[in-house]
Amino acid sequence: MAVPVKELANGATIPCIGMGTFGSDRFDAGQVAAAVEGGIEAGYRLFDCASVYGNEALIGGVLEKAVTGGKVKRGELVITSKVWNDMHGSGDVLLSCARSLKDLKLDYIDIFFVHWPFPNYHAPGCDGDSRNPASRPFFAEEFAGVWRQMERLVDMGLVRSIGMSNMTVPKLEAALPLCRIMPAAIEMELHPAFQQPGLFGYCVGKGIQPIGFCPIGSPTRPERDKTPDDVAATEMPEIMEIAGARGVHPAVVCLKWAVRRGQVPIPFSVYRAEYESNIKCVSEDPLTDEEMRKISAADRNCRLIKGQVFLWEGAANWRALWDEDGVIAGWEG
Ligand SMILES: NC(=O)c1ccc[n+]([C@@H]2O[C@H](COP(=O)([O-])OP(=O)(O)OC[C@H]3O[C@@H](n4cnc5c(N)ncnc54)[C@H](OP(=O)(O)O)[C@@H]3O)[C@@H](O)[C@H]2O)c1
Repeated sequence: MAVPVKELANGATIPCIGMGTFGSDRFDAGQVAAAVEGGIEAGYRLFDCASVYGNEALIGGVLEKAVTGGKVKRGELVITSKVWNDMHGSGDVLLSCARSLKDLKLDYIDIFFVHWPFPNYHAPGCDGDSRNPASRPFFAEEFAGVWRQMERLVDMGLVRSIGMSNMTVPKLEAALPLCRIMPAAIEMELHPAFQQPGLFGYCVGKGIQPIGFCPIGSPTRPERDKTPDDVAATEMPEIMEIAGARGVHPAVVCLKWAVRRGQVPIPFSVYRAEYESNIKCVSEDPLTDEEMRKISAADRNCRLIKGQVFLWEGAANWRALWDEDGVIAGWEG
């Protein structure tokens, strides 16, 4: 199945749906790599990778086999990766990129993202309330130092496009004037229960492609990342009603909404039936204007990936990471 592509501001293209590769605690690297192999057969060309997902080496083996075996041309693939928070120091971004290139068995990465806009690191799987004493708030000048290293990767031909992730409008307002090369894309949490109209519209207005993570509302994220107030996108009455009327799974409605709105969703699944159904969404039966309006009005402003493990000592709570009052939180946040 051929997936329609969209053009980024720098002229590169990106499929309008991709496959996530974060297996979290549930799926090991081999299972995720097998899903990438099946995904290529199903027609996926965009794979959202990251060094911190711990599976780039096995995914790289699959990509190499697919290209050398003639299943797909390298130029048709759009492979992303991300520099993790512990590799923001001078020279470290290049090291991280080199490591991802080696693991993914590629000679360039299509879009390389700064995974989080600060160097706050936590041990994998640590308790949600734990704080690293070295964690600190976002500083635009510090972030600019990371971005300059990202720009250098473009200059060196190691990456085609660069992007940011987990940003807010105030952080972008501070960071974009410091960029020589604009981000071509920004990853952000986007699903019917968390539509981020402000950030989404801001990016579109600047010609930056939003890429929506957790597009199905990440129903299987670890328990430590769930709170009692979380709204499950697939259980929202509006989504269930549309799914019921169409005779499809609510996940399909979430993805059709994403594609028609204009973000690039990157759903994750290791199950063939699910990832095949997800990719089919983009070419069959788009949502109607009325269905789009209904979902737009159903936004619950419910952030699921709160990032609380990245808080600095003294920060009040996870909301300090997201500048909800329009100001970038500092030490007092
Ligand atoms: N930049 C960042 O900071 C960031 C943060 C988070 C995620 N991401 C990226 O975004 C990707 C997607 O996010 P995510 O995995 O958290 O959330 P998601 O894609 O919203 O949800 C994934 C879960 O949805 C279920 N699912 C998928 N397709 C389905 C279908 N057709 N029918 C029913 N259920 C379906 C699966 O559950 P079952 O396994 O139970 O079937 C799967 O585990 C990640 O893999 C990662 O690449 C990036």
